[in-house]
Amino acid sequence: MSQPIPTTMKAVILPSAGERLTLRTVPVPTVVPGSALIKVLSTAVDGHGPALLSGKIFTFPDNFTPGCRTVGRVAATGPDTTSLTHGQLVMIEPFFRGRDDPNVQILWGAFDGPSPASKKFMAQNWALGGYAEYTLAPLENVHVLDEEVLCGQLGYSVHDLLQLSVQLVAYGGLRSIGLQAGETVIVAPATGSFSGAAVHVAVAMGAKVIAMGRKKEVLEEFQRVHGESRVKIVVPTGDVEADTAALKKFGEVDAYIDISPAQASTSTHIRSCFLAVKPYGRVSLMGVVTNDLAVPYSYLVWNSLTVKGLYMYERADVTGLIKLAESGVLKLGEGAAMTVLGTFGLEDIEKALELAASDTRAGRVVAITP
Ligand SMILES: NC(=O)c1ccc[n+]([C@@H]2O[C@H](COP(=O)([O-])OP(=O)(O)OC[C@H]3O[C@@H](n4cnc5c(N)ncnc54)[C@H](OP(=O)(O)O)[C@@H]3O)[C@@H](O)[C@H]2O)c1
Repeated sequence: MSQPIPTTMKAVILPSAGERLTLRTVPVPTVVPGSALIKVLSTAVDGHGPALLSGKIFTFPDNFTPGCRTVGRVAATGPDTTSLTHGQLVMIEPFFRGRDDPNVQILWGAFDGPSPASKKFMAQNWALGGYAEYTLAPLENVHVLDEEVLCGQLGYSVHDLLQLSVQLVAYGGLRSIGLQAGETVIVAPATGSFSGAAVHVAVAMGAKVIAMGRKKEVLEEFQRVHGESRVKIVVPTGDVEADTAALKKFGEVDAYIDISPAQASTSTHIRSCFLAVKPYGRVSLMGVVTNDLAVPYSYLVWNSLTVKGLYMYERADVTGLIKLAESGVLKLGEGAAMTVLGTFGLEDIEKALELAASDTRAGRVVAITP
């Protein structure tokens, strides 16, 4: 028997950028055509939460509810729903796009995008993120997860499943440069939240990975779960020539994916990685590097490299990644060196943010469980 849906619920509200998060009682949203109401089971807490909520990196409407990586259950569906049914386990994929113009894009629960149209799109429709008991999402962003397989046969917790929307970013990047099974790809840096996920995704896609990063102990976690034959590690020294040679010593490098943050924009690893890629190789740039880079222009030309920038991913990537996880090839949980550091109720959001900020290494998860 399905539980009746209450008329009110608890939700974390950010009155405006930089203010304190508050827990409020608000109306449960009404399902409208094109949407589904989701009972939230688990929403990830970003390790950079305080910075993101300061409004200096991302913008968002006043009185918005953050929380952008959510797993939950379908609680109610709109009249135009064709496949979702009540009670199904689902993931809300946070890259919401305008139906009439897919170039109007927001990151649900995090960022209202750069244009007046994207800001209006979020403010008037999707300002309620995942730190709430219930939330509303567009039907096309609600993806059914095979609970019997993922939680039953493969033994994952709902918190493990949060990692899917992190892995999705890397999957989009690696697919955009056509990574093939058997190829060798450099992932750099490899020790962050999104970049670390790229290691597991590339292994699942059949590639051999050269994971480059400054935290050797994190790189060794990748080797522990995937084996030394699938994951090679390189700790950069800052000497471009030596680091390029270290990357090339495992054989031909077909591709390189970079998911650097702004702090790494002057890091020499970027140049070393470019110089290590073989002729006709491909490079995916997915970091948020705020200043321009000096790339080895003539090396790119003489070696016919393809460089592809990508924001997020395509819709086909979402279904592809979920299939990869359901097949058991893409690992979550312990198989992806994941550690759930802690889970908290909505009332403890500040404690959750603090814990998440204390350890931002790859695979660390803190979750809100309303
Ligand atoms: N294109 C997209 O659609 C997309 C999607 C999601 C995220 N992103 C962006 O991707 C970036 C990385 O995300 P993340 O979550 O992985 O970040 P993160 O968890 O903060 O990790 C940062 C990574 O960068 C490394 N790093 C930091 N400063 C460095 C420096 N000076 N030199 C060399 N390496 C340095 C860190 O290495 P240590 O461990 O050694 O400190 C760590 O591996 C962010 O800017 C994020 O906004 C882009």
